[in-house]
Amino acid sequence: HVAAEVFPLVKTGGLADVVAALPVAQAEQGADVRLLLPGYPAIIESVQGARAVIDIGACFGALRVRLLLGRMPGTALPVYVIDAPYLYRRAGGPYQAPDGEEWPDNLQRFALLGWVAAHLAADDADPAWVPDIVHAHDWHAAMACAFVAEHLPTRAASVFTVHNLAFQGLFPMHDWPLLGLASRLMSPSGLEYHGQLSFMKAGLKFADRITTVSPTYAQEIATHEFGCGLDGVIRGRGAAVSGILNGIDEAVWNPATDPAIPQRFDAERLAGKAACKRALQAELDLQPDAEALLLVVVSRLTAQKGMDLLLAALPELLPQGVQLAVQGTGDPALEAAFRMAAQAHPGRVQVHIGYDEARAHRLVAGGDMIAVPSRFEPCGLTQMYGLRYGTVPLVRRVGGLADTVPDVADRAEGAGFVFEPATPQALAQALQRALALHRNPSEWVSVQRRGMARPLSWRPPAEAYRALYLEALRERRGG
Ligand code: ADP
Ligand code: GLC
Repeated sequence: HVAAEVFPLVKTGGLADVVAALPVAQAEQGADVRLLLPGYPAIIESVQGARAVIDIGACFGALRVRLLLGRMPGTALPVYVIDAPYLYRRAGGPYQAPDGEEWPDNLQRFALLGWVAAHLAADDADPAWVPDIVHAHDWHAAMACAFVAEHLPTRAASVFTVHNLAFQGLFPMHDWPLLGLASRLMSPSGLEYHGQLSFMKAGLKFADRITTVSPTYAQEIATHEFGCGLDGVIRGRGAAVSGILNGIDEAVWNPATDPAIPQRFDAERLAGKAACKRALQAELDLQPDAEALLLVVVSRLTAQKGMDLLLAALPELLPQGVQLAVQGTGDPALEAAFRMAAQAHPGRVQVHIGYDEARAHRLVAGGDMIAVPSRFEPCGLTQMYGLRYGTVPLVRRVGGLADTVPDVADRAEGAGFVFEPATPQALAQALQRALALHRNPSEWVSVQRRGMARPLSWRPPAEAYRALYLEALRERRGG
């Protein structure tokens, strides 16, 4: 697995959770899995027992590049780390400087990631271990697929997973020579995207198989509405594109064992959840009201996530006894709007602008509902965390949200409240339905229990990836 983030070492979103959990599930099923990650400080400092495998020398502007091999802390999972101090060892995020600007050399930083992946696959980075599959995640790792296809013919097949088509890794075309690829690829049938150079296209064009993180999003990205300008490319790959729904890491997100929450609980012992709600209201200075419907949000605060819809619906919701607790970071205008909402409604709205894993667990455990009103959502993990914790999801019927949350109108399966139009009114109407059901505790508990019983493990998706890997390998190796 080639990726730019992994929980708990470096995380900006769900990608990190997937890269931490899927390989472990695959290893449990007998696959010989390794990660390849950039050597950011947090990774170099945490990887255990690292030793140098090969000296790569000068590459993409970095004078000294080495490949290290160690283990992910707390697991037996082997991890290759690219030690390139000039490109990776700096304070700041994986993609952005502390001031929020993209790193100016992201092209070199992530071309190197793809380059090393391609060499591992081509059997000349670590002769002791050659993968059958190179599985690249998002644009950061996508160049691996182009380097394999163009330079380094391998017996390995490549799989590219799109976690979010909206982030594409676009760079100025004048940087093309830095990649060392043939100039015939500087065209729309190669990596060119409206005059720029697109890393995302390297994955979409050259991977043997393309997956995305839910079946519905797989269909959506082939349409003009969700295709971010790449729907034609995606349609062009036909049956090579499929959707495999993410699971959740049940070791990390489990209310019966979660060390971050004040009282543990499960579907049979929901009293612990009531205690978590009381504790959360106290922690956040919300009115200590057991009857109020406490809606929580743990999210990037962006238009993708529909956070403006939630803000616009608030005036209708608050008079009806809804409390809102938000934790997130993102668009400065949305951050400011949420801060203002909290100031205007003390005791009813609480907002924490920031990133905090432990508090995210307390919010998910203590809330009655979790809102994910996204405009688009490749998979979405927090609604699944909500399901596991009896925190009923309020979601838009889109992408992975549609695939993971059946509406309560479905009497047998219903585990959440789903709305369709991306409007504050539709969101408010769904919450009205929730308020009505919440007044009936026994019905509410049965919705919670149906959610808590939903299968969310990584085992079935890990098996689906295995089947896909075998298919891609058969095709590549002929028969
Ligand atoms: P995305 O990757 O699009 O942001 P996901 O739902 O797939 O959305 O994953 C988001 C992940 O990031 C979840 O693990 C969620 O708990 C976490 N997260 C998002 N914002 C915060 C925050 N402010 N504090 C802690 N965790 C957060
Ligand atoms: C992306 C998507 C999110 C998905 C996550 C993990 O960040 O926005 O929907 O859950 O990747 O696949």
